[in-house]
Amino acid sequence: MNKGIAVYPGSFDPPTNGHLDLIERGSKMFEQLVVAVLRNSEKTPMFSLAERLEMLRQLTAELTNVRIDAFDGLMVEYAKSIGAMCVLRGIRAISDYEYELQMALMNRKLEPRLETVFMLPGQPYSYLSSKLVREKIS
Ligand code: PNS
Repeated sequence: MNKGIAVYPGSFDPPTNGHLDLIERGSKMFEQLVVAVLRNSEKTPMFSLAERLEMLRQLTAELTNVRIDAFDGLMVEYAKSIGAMCVLRGIRAISDYEYELQMALMNRKLEPRLETVFMLPGQPYSYLSSKLVREKIS
């Protein structure tokens, strides 16, 4: 479909099947999909950056046009540095919308050439979140 590089940024703490579902969908839409883990979040993560990168690498090993990376600072600056034209984000339910809208509008203000593309994960993952997974395993 769309040719070019897209970035899928997030905390991925930990990556879930919902994230993987979105990565698979996104990998079919873009020439290259870069899954980018935020290095220094305000939140203290349960999994180290190295663990999250490794989990994502293992989960996406079969997807040849998916690359896993880490980034610092503003996402739009990172996207520019890798030549990404689009940002991919998932919206599960209406409760995600406000946060995603805020972020997308802020990113657009910062870099008007970068488009945010929202995708819906498969229905079985609509109520799955990293937070719930963390609660389950702690
Ligand atoms: O998985 P998350 O925690 O919802 O992902 C949020 C993330 C990492 C995409 C967002 O916090 C982000 O892009 N942070 C980098 C800093 C930035 O660019 N902020 C301005 C946009 S609001």
